[in-house]
Amino acid sequence: MATKTSNRKPAGLTGKMEDSEFHKFFVDELKDIYWAEKHLVKALPKMQKAATSEDLAAAFQKHTAETQTHIDTLEQVFSLLDEKAVAKKCDAMEGLLAEATSIIEDTEKGTHTRDAGLILAAQKVEHYEIATYGSLRTFAQTMGHTDVADLLQQTLDNEKATDEALTQAAESMVNEAAAAE
Ligand SMILES: [Fe+2]
Ligand SMILES: [Fe+2]
Repeated sequence: MATKTSNRKPAGLTGKMEDSEFHKFFVDELKDIYWAEKHLVKALPKMQKAATSEDLAAAFQKHTAETQTHIDTLEQVFSLLDEKAVAKKCDAMEGLLAEATSIIEDTEKGTHTRDAGLILAAQKVEHYEIATYGSLRTFAQTMGHTDVADLLQQTLDNEKATDEALTQAAESMVNEAAAAE
């Protein structure tokens, strides 16, 4: 059994990449984001319901469907790596979504302040996802899993587009309307 201090030689020279600590860490982090996406797909419809503006509600609805695609994509990734798709609790996403719930509780229904808060919460989530997928994509590239890296890049691009759409919503109407309340 390998320990942290053992003098393991780099994978690729001595054995399969799949046996390396880095690969195990990579798979563990994939399980973490898999849990996060599954948790998020249940939270987004609540954010949609809480939104004041129809446009924002529609944006959350769109991203719920996209998040389901992210889940499906991760399942493809697990399958390409010959790993079981297992979710491992992600404390960060749990915390971010708890914060979204607090924002809904702390703001009044039907206000633009509520929407400004929902956008804030959603952008924190998107930035977490962008950081995660960016790193995991680079890990996959480093390990030579080009097909996996391409799939993670697709999700990363979608998270970035979502983040930009949320910024647009905030700048084009929500923030000004909230300031007028
Ligand atoms: Fe996602
Ligand atoms: Fe997302």
